[in-house]
Order: sequence, then C-alpha cells, then structure tokens
Amino acid sequence: MQRLTNRRILLGITGGIAAYKSAELTRLLKGAGADVRIVMTPAATEFITPLTLQALSGHPVHLQLLDPEAEAGMGHIELAKWADLILIAPASADFIARFSAGMGDDLLTTLCLATDAPICLAPAMNQAMWRDPRTQDNVRQLSAQGVTLLGPGVGAQACGDTGPGRMLEPEELAELAAEQFEHGALSGLRVFITAGPTREPLDPVRYISNHSSGKMGYALAEAAVDAGASVKLISGPVTLTPPSRVDCVQVETAEEMLAASLDGIAGCDLFIAAAAVADYRPISVAEHKIKKGNEEIMELRLTKNPDIVATVAGLSEQRPYTVGFAAETRDVIGYARSKLARKGLDLIVANDVSNPDIGFNSDDNAVTLVSADDEVALPQASKRQLARQLIEQIAQHYHQSTK
Ligand code: C5P
Repeated sequence: MQRLTNRRILLGITGGIAAYKSAELTRLLKGAGADVRIVMTPAATEFITPLTLQALSGHPVHLQLLDPEAEAGMGHIELAKWADLILIAPASADFIARFSAGMGDDLLTTLCLATDAPICLAPAMNQAMWRDPRTQDNVRQLSAQGVTLLGPGVGAQACGDTGPGRMLEPEELAELAAEQFEHGALSGLRVFITAGPTREPLDPVRYISNHSSGKMGYALAEAAVDAGASVKLISGPVTLTPPSRVDCVQVETAEEMLAASLDGIAGCDLFIAAAAVADYRPISVAEHKIKKGNEEIMELRLTKNPDIVATVAGLSEQRPYTVGFAAETRDVIGYARSKLARKGLDLIVANDVSNPDIGFNSDDNAVTLVSADDEVALPQASKRQLARQLIEQIAQHYHQSTK
C-alpha cells in the first residue's frame, strides 16, 4: 500500500492503554509512504515510550508546548501548518473533552486549534466512559464542527468490560487515514496551474521580467493535490521547489507557457492562471549580447504576448473551467470584474497589491474571489492557508457549474 505517499500525518497519542497500538499504526502509515510526526501528551508517555515512536517515525517526538529546543526546530505553529492530516489515536475521553471545549492547555490541543488540516479522532476508552452523556455531547459537537470520528469499535476491553470504546485496529486506522485523501473537493480532476513570472529575452544575457515569486501558484498546486486533483504546474523561473506529487513543467517565456498550457488541455477540467505573465516581449531577440553604444537613450520595441488564460477560456471545444488572477492597486473589485468579462473567465481572484504586507513577494495574501454574480472575501492569511480556502471555494463553483 503506497496510498499515503508524501502525505504529512501528525499522529497525536493521548493517554490510554491502546497507545501501545500506535507503534504499529506509525509503522503502517510510514509503510504506506506517509511522513509521520508524533505528538504525545504526558499521559501517553506512561503507556509507551517516546523513544519507541521516535525510532519508528524517524523523527524526534514532540512532547511539550513550551519546549525551547523543539520550538527552535519545528515550532508548534509550524507543526500545525505542516500537517496534511492530524490523526489522534488513541483519543482519550479527557482529550476529547479538552478539545471540544476549545482548550489549548497542551501541545496537542494547541495544534488542533492552530491547524487548518482535517482532524480525525480514534476514540479509545472504557465503555462506560464512552457512553457517558458528557463524552457523547463532546463527540457530537466535534463531529458537527467537521472532526472525523474513526470508531470506536465494540468488543472486549483491556479493563475486562465488553462494549463500545475499543480503538480500531491499526490496519483499519491506516486504511481510513488513506481514505481521508480520496474524498477531496477536487477528487479525480485534472488541474493545470500557471505560476511565477515569465522571462522575455532581449539577448543571450538579458531579459524583461517581474517580481512574482510563484508562492501563490505553488501553494495552490499543493492544495489542489491535497484536495485529490492530479496537477500540472506550469512554472516560470522561480526559486521554489515544486511540491511533491505535482507534474511540474518549467518554462521561461510567455509563448512557452502558452504552449505548455495548451499541451493536454483537452483532458484538463480546471485551469488556474496564477502566473504573472509579461504583457509584452522584445520584438526580436538579439543573437549576440547587445553592446553599449554612444547614444544616451536606447529604445526597445516590444510586441504583445499572447494572453494565456484568455486563450484557454476562449477554447471552443473541451474548455476547462477557467480561473484568473487580478493584481490591482485601486478599484480592485471593479477592475477584476471587467477582467473577468473581457477574458471570458468563470472566476477571478482579486488581490490588492498596493499593500506591501500581501501579494507579490510576501508570504501572506488576502483576496476576494469574484464570479459573475458573487464576491467572497478571504481575509489575510498565509499563502498556504489561503490556497486551501481558495481551492475549496473554486471546487464548489466548479461542481456547481457541472450540475
Ligand atoms: O491582464 P492581466 O495580466 O492583469 O491579467 C491577469 C490574469 O491573466 C492572471 O490570471 C494571469 O495569469 C493571466 N494572464 C495570462 N496571460 C497573459 C497575461 C495575463 O494568462 N499574457
């Protein structure tokens, strides 16, 4: 089973006798290709040693919220952002109660508050504790908030009782963890994403380009993969490492980006144009380096580049659902709306690049998703978090359009 390849699973272990099974669960998740990081509550360490889990996961185990050494490596917020899935197995009655009350009194509850990754709980407790109305209220509340419950199973318990409250077996939990990635909002869809700047050469050593970092497009590619899509990322020159599980095509010029975008477009369901394509390119590229002359002013002659997203949106056959970006400095929504109509797009993501805290080269962004009849504002967040929200929203619009 390699269905968890490159998935980042944060396995939370709380205090219960079933914690000994978490060792086997770690082994199975790793065997399925996942990168597993372990967080243990203090009570969990009474049942199984962190050393065992460190050896099995291949990473130091995270134990405390305010551990300066751990924070210097991967701090609690980074860990919360890192995870594609948080799986808590076993989840004790006490943990469930603290989590449903919104507490952040240890590392694991804090991570659950700070993450935007899906959370799965595998409850494990004595049958009477499971049946207790307070526990039942807590799990009901958590599942209404989108937390997935895996189990519990019914049967003989370590304490001698029989009934509901057994943690599901590690094989079953590993299988269910894999399934969490197969029901994504873009499950089974083919998505093309353009990202980064283009480079338009003047001569063999010079080019015209812009400051686009590619961060937004790369974050979208990662979020789309996490949502179950198969992704082709068509990237201009950037310094980012392509996300794993993405088919990344590197290009330089707008014309190359267009060719890569149209290659296989018949099989593309959703096209997202996040690239900052140069609007113009030098009319011709000098064969040799252009030498400095005596003239004070040098003129460049430029010709218009093809509009990639408008070309895709204008396809008469097998046109994918098409989403563009509009980076504006004033009347952001107004300009975005006219661009939506002019380019024939289904959706446009408008962002205000006059604010230096967001947009182009920064790690954060804040955008408004504009469709012909609606606007949804997504407030400032990291590009990674925003990408997840955008992918969710875009997927909803896409599915509505295919109804
Ligand atoms: O026209 P403007 O550059 O403002 O439009 C931005 C949107 O159009 C972005 O989605 C960008 O990726 C796309 N675009 C394109 N090809 C161009 C210019 C822009 O795909 N030549």
